[in-house]
Amino acid sequence: MIDQSTIERILDAANISDVVSEFVTLKKRGVNQLGLCPFHNEKTPSFTVSPAKGIFKCFGCGKGGNSVNFVMELEQLSYPDALRWLAKKFHIEIEEKEESQEEKQLKDERESMMIVSAFAQKYFSRFLLKENEGRTIGLSYLRERGIRDDIITKFELGYCPDGKDLFTQAAQREGYKMNFLEKTGLTIKREEWVRDRFGGRVIFPVHNVAGRVIAFGGRTLTNDKKVAKYLNSPESEIYHKGRTLYGIYQAKRDITKLDKCYLVEGYTDVLSFHQAGIENVVASSGTSLTIDQIRLIRRFSPNITIVYDGDDAGIKASLRGIDMVLEEGINVKVLPLPRGEDPDSFARSMSAGELTEYIKNNETDFIKFKTQLLMGTVENDPVSKARLVNEIVRSISVIPDTITRTIYIKECSRLMDVQEAVLYSEIRKIQNKQSEDHTRKEIQEIQIQASKPAAPVTQKKVANHFETEEREIIRVLLKYFHQEAFDIENEETHEMKSYTVGYYVLSELKSDGLTSVDPNFSFIIATLEENVDNKDFDPVKFFTQHPNTEISQFASNIMADKYVESKRWSKGGAFIETESELLYLLVPKLVQEYKSKKVKLMLKKLEQQINEASKNNDTEKLMEYMGQHMKLKEVLKDLSALLGFRTIS
Ligand code: CTP
Ligand code: MN
Repeated sequence: MIDQSTIERILDAANISDVVSEFVTLKKRGVNQLGLCPFHNEKTPSFTVSPAKGIFKCFGCGKGGNSVNFVMELEQLSYPDALRWLAKKFHIEIEEKEESQEEKQLKDERESMMIVSAFAQKYFSRFLLKENEGRTIGLSYLRERGIRDDIITKFELGYCPDGKDLFTQAAQREGYKMNFLEKTGLTIKREEWVRDRFGGRVIFPVHNVAGRVIAFGGRTLTNDKKVAKYLNSPESEIYHKGRTLYGIYQAKRDITKLDKCYLVEGYTDVLSFHQAGIENVVASSGTSLTIDQIRLIRRFSPNITIVYDGDDAGIKASLRGIDMVLEEGINVKVLPLPRGEDPDSFARSMSAGELTEYIKNNETDFIKFKTQLLMGTVENDPVSKARLVNEIVRSISVIPDTITRTIYIKECSRLMDVQEAVLYSEIRKIQNKQSEDHTRKEIQEIQIQASKPAAPVTQKKVANHFETEEREIIRVLLKYFHQEAFDIENEETHEMKSYTVGYYVLSELKSDGLTSVDPNFSFIIATLEENVDNKDFDPVKFFTQHPNTEISQFASNIMADKYVESKRWSKGGAFIETESELLYLLVPKLVQEYKSKKVKLMLKKLEQQINEASKNNDTEKLMEYMGQHMKLKEVLKDLSALLGFRTIS
């Protein structure tokens, strides 16, 4: 935790020109400075820095913000880490909250494990490149597979000598403690013996996002079927397999820059893609994909293309991956490979240019992928077709973002020749079911919370269930606050008047008297209400630079939410509408989804109160609650009727 006065000093000192100049050569242009954008590829500069305003803005890709935002985006750091980065650059000492003894011990332990791992990586690399055994066995194996030296260096590949405990001995001679060699799994120790885990194997170090080595994969060089092809480091305090992606450190810049990530299965797949010049690639390393891994990718881009092995297992894994990824609000495509190929073998069978061409021609969105996969069997069979439509609708229904759903429905309607209205009603059925389940969970949670003494933290927990909807509303509000998106006719004069997104959303929220339990949300809404007619009010700036860190962080994070960025649609060709053009559709839907969710929760709560009151024979209360309940039921009915259909234009 960095205290508030330190944050203010950092923000004061963090001169935008100095910060940006660390990465980009800037030229003076009037009062501003101009350079090549570090966030996207460009030949003519459109990246502008305004020292007076303390902000940057790229007119090519649209990225913009203050010094902290710049560092967060470019170095892919969290808000507090970006502050630490700036503090270091501007020589400001940070006063952080003291750690407890326990926290400190755990941190020291992790640090020691990372230090041993770093030593091991250097040892293995040196052994591969300099020692006789490493060169004749390890290096010649890699060369035989066609792996180039620059790739070996980039991924810090290595070789562990084939002796019982040669590595362990070397490490101990250098003063590394057995305790940490064991905890990292580099050494296996039993009562009567000690040995190296990776002896005689080629080593693939696994890096975390920051580039530190946290684990290893070791490939055997024998063809013996009884020997495991890969051995991996065990789970440890520094290595959680399900939260790690192989190659993320080497890929993160390009994932951000190209706004897209390829997801492959194995170590060698990652290497071969890099070798073909495709660097925005990570591997789930043989495990089935986890939510944490998907979220890790989403930190850098909301666009994933799954490239799994061209066999039944690979296709099955792709289908499973698609729904998980969609649920996290990510756009997913699939690159099917010819049968029997994996990304590694496929990439090596052609030139880099041919690979890029193949990707361009064969990447399909998930609806086409599923359709093509299953269509052959359904042609003239209405029952199977209905099942396929249902299957696809199910995938669409998990997408949290309204606009993405809308676009996929259009696509599905066209491909499967089914009316959009039918698809909408199917989706609503699925969602109603899900939302009932969800509301039930929320109620349970509220009951649990209510039985505990109230504390601000628990209050927030309750609010978290609305996070997606609330965040979306705030994001759209901040981003398009003053944009006029609604032409509404006055009922009496029949005059048309344009309304801004801010005006529309705020008055909609107000009309039903819905409030949030999240204090940040409420604060932002209240502030926006005060400024709805103030054209000079820049909400993004106001909140991201707000002196209260909670607020600025909340707002920065929301603005950094990438998963609904619209530029993705312009690339594929199929979808041309952008978010900002579809606001008149998107915004009302968002508001209504948010409201329905709130109302449902309120209804359930009332039902409990009604039960309670009738148990206590409290007629007065009972009548009051029943009245409220009826009113809310009406509201919900109106809302549901509107959902999915309402358009204002
Ligand atoms: N894997 C593993 N343990 C195994 C087999 C596989 O951990 N016994 C993981 C590795 O991360 C591997 C990935 O699953 O990279 C994919 O497995 P596979 O396709 O069998 O390996 P490849 O990466 O293709 O390796 P190679 O090209 O050397 O055969
Ligand atoms: Mn493979």
